[in-house]
Amino acid sequence: MTIDELVGELERLIAEKAELSSILEIAMRELHESNPRFDWTGIYELLPDDILRLGPFVGAPTDHVFIGVGNGVCGTAVAEKRNINVPDVRKAENYLACSADTRSELVVLISVGDRIVGQIDIDSHSVAAFDEQTVKDVERVADVLARAYDAQVPVDTSRDE
Ligand code: SME
Repeated sequence: MTIDELVGELERLIAEKAELSSILEIAMRELHESNPRFDWTGIYELLPDDILRLGPFVGAPTDHVFIGVGNGVCGTAVAEKRNINVPDVRKAENYLACSADTRSELVVLISVGDRIVGQIDIDSHSVAAFDEQTVKDVERVADVLARAYDAQVPVDTSRDE
């Protein structure tokens, strides 16, 4: 599925009022498959107490299920309210390792108006995997996911399973 097709599919699901969890799962699965350099592709949702919680993801399981705002690349993106593209994680100061094979990481925020609701986090085993076009593609998916969040209230916003 191309990014155009994925965005169209997500828009269709939003119009059909599909569950947010299904939309997020499909988005991560298809985004992951859209680019061979994506080795881990997932969502972190921002909880009201400034904790990021891992949502749907494709790739190896990670220890980082909860990340505080300000910690790691993921938490720094929220604290600084900006997307972060790290070409070489071995040179990053504030980095939480998910896999020893990861070389580059991209975090794109999902925002509804001024409110950050989560982020797309992608790890690659290649150095500098995320060029300008790739970043734009991921931003398009983040924008459509923001509309999915805006369209419905998540069922579970607590940290207790
Ligand atoms: N590398 C991230 C942690 C999440 S894992 O990559 C899935 C970080 O530094 O915040």
